[in-house]
Amino acid sequence: MRTEQLQWCTKIPGELINSNGVHVWRAFLDVSTDEFERLSRFLSADELARARRFHFESDQKRFIIARGILRKILGRYLGWSPDKLRFEYTSHGKPMLATDAGNDNLCFNLSHSAAFALYAVTYNKKIGIDIERLRDDVALGQIAQNFFSQGEINSLEKINKNKRAGLFFQYWTRKEAFVKAMGEGISFPMNQCDVSLLNGNFLSPVILSGENSESSCLHVQDLFPGDGYAAAIATEGGDLDISWWHYSL
Ligand SMILES: CC(C)(COP(=O)(O)OP(=O)(O)OC[C@H]1O[C@@H](n2cnc3c(N)ncnc32)[C@H](O)[C@@H]1OP(=O)(O)O)[C@@H](O)C(=O)NCCC(=O)NCCS
Repeated sequence: MRTEQLQWCTKIPGELINSNGVHVWRAFLDVSTDEFERLSRFLSADELARARRFHFESDQKRFIIARGILRKILGRYLGWSPDKLRFEYTSHGKPMLATDAGNDNLCFNLSHSAAFALYAVTYNKKIGIDIERLRDDVALGQIAQNFFSQGEINSLEKINKNKRAGLFFQYWTRKEAFVKAMGEGISFPMNQCDVSLLNGNFLSPVILSGENSESSCLHVQDLFPGDGYAAAIATEGGDLDISWWHYSL
């Protein structure tokens, strides 16, 4: 079944995810002033300091809201108050729950674009998620030349012009989800990873190196968060039980 046919459930999950489960949460970041105040109280001093470093107030607010919701979602699984969670960061900036805090090996990743945030939560697995608002005001061709494989560039050039931005962001979100699952940053050679070959619902990105290529052990799947957006999730292992939830405050 294609994921666009699935419902984003509003009912709160009745049980904790099993070891093979992945919960994907979708949230809207436009919230009332009261809710913004409530969410901001969950953030740590370093998160609030980071928020203040954003130049635009709208970016500060989005960061605070997305982090506040992240804390509420993770707090549900752990049975903790959202303000009690502590994060650690890899050298590439990937946030994880602090290892010394008895967090049951809960793994997560998040992404935000315009009014949406997506969160992926699972146990003991590499996980990455990405969402992008579709737009055609960016130099798609030039970005593709720098970050896409030759096969991906060929597919983009062949497709009807009015579908090009959609395909571009589908590839882009697959790549970012893949890179984020690995915990790498933008320094990863994205043009060495081909995400154009879907196998059923799942896709194993192919890592190209010289004459050789090898399939990654990560699987990528497209998500359909709403009109005008592209999104993808990358996880370790293909036999996963993924479910979709819409977060309501
Ligand atoms: C991770 C990255 C690809 C995300 O880019 P993006 O599409 O602009 O942003 P998204 O909204 O999809 O994701 C941002 C979220 O991903 C998470 N994240 C940050 N770095 C990450 C990484 N290396 N891997 C996985 N997830 C990461 C964070 O939760 C972040 O949300 P936050 O605003 O709450 O902190 C990009 O920021 C990047 O490459 N960062 C790494 C930079 C780096 O290598 N720094 C090294 C130290 S100098």
